[in-house]
Amino acid sequence: MAGPASAAPVFVELAREDDAALRAELVRGLTAPAAHVAPKFLYGPLGSALFDAITRLAEYYPTRTEAAIFAAERDAIARACGRGRPLVDLGAADCAKAAALFDALQPSQYVAVDISVDYVRDALQRLQRCHPALPMLGVGMDFTAALELPPQVGPGPRTLFYPGSSIGNFMPEEALVLLRRVHAACAGGALLIGVDLVKPREVLEAAYADALGVTAAFDLNLLRNVNARLGADFDPRQWRHVAFFDARASRIEMHLEAREALTVRWPGGERRFAGGERIHTENSYKYRRGDFEAMLRDAGFGRTQGWTDARGWFAVFVAQAG
Ligand SMILES: C[S@@+](CC[C@H](N)C(=O)[O-])C[C@H]1O[C@@H](n2cnc3c(N)ncnc32)[C@H](O)[C@@H]1O
Repeated sequence: MAGPASAAPVFVELAREDDAALRAELVRGLTAPAAHVAPKFLYGPLGSALFDAITRLAEYYPTRTEAAIFAAERDAIARACGRGRPLVDLGAADCAKAAALFDALQPSQYVAVDISVDYVRDALQRLQRCHPALPMLGVGMDFTAALELPPQVGPGPRTLFYPGSSIGNFMPEEALVLLRRVHAACAGGALLIGVDLVKPREVLEAAYADALGVTAAFDLNLLRNVNARLGADFDPRQWRHVAFFDARASRIEMHLEAREALTVRWPGGERRFAGGERIHTENSYKYRRGDFEAMLRDAGFGRTQGWTDARGWFAVFVAQAG
């Protein structure tokens, strides 16, 4: 007997990536006195697959610790979020974390938002086959530019889902701006967010410089993405991955360091790097629980509930926007 007819996910591409603007952003970062490239350039089909591999590493505790909290607290989390609402997944990637919560949250619609449109498209099409009755919407958007959800998102309060401590990739003042936008997008619903907490340096540094070199490959792949975007001639073999915890700023910093003096060229420009000079590629801020709760309040959220693992390494919060 045939199964129920499977609805196809709908896709909306709100922000077509503007190649000229992205190239200009890359040139600005590469020619700055302290060179930097935004972490969004880590992603793409290979970058997203490498990140997926990172989440399976022994050293990378955030994903499995967060998943354990979701599993242990699923009912309390579902009560706090409210069941039967649209579930909007920010930076959905393979959509796996949200899918694991469908049973508990019983969403009326699943909305996967990601800048890496092709990756999320494949994931959403696979997911739709497993949940044929759940309306699904893919939204290609850069939510650091704006977070106005399309009209295809169901009316009424929504649950915004921002797991994986991705909020830690923003400077605290930028994180606050994003959380204010998220608050508005909740339309009176709630935010379900995962946040990495301060912990011993050796645990943090191992998570961002693993023994197999998967995080190094993820970081170095950014150079290939820059080559593709900018027509630059980075050779990843001339660079090494460096990650360390800056306790004063409470953040992990990831950098690519030139192994020797070299010049990188692209159409219309070049940058000379001394041996040992670095390109800053990512920050990952680690919060104290009370500090993050204060930030949620500053962003406009009301009552907040939080859960951590037994070691206090990671926290999951539900913050009410209504
Ligand atoms: C580190 S992955 C997290 C995936 C998954 N949510 C998790 O927690 O494991 C970050 C995802 O966010 C997407 N992303 C990063 N910056 C973004 C932005 N500014 N706007 C939209 N998506 C973004 C990336 O393409 C990637 O798929």
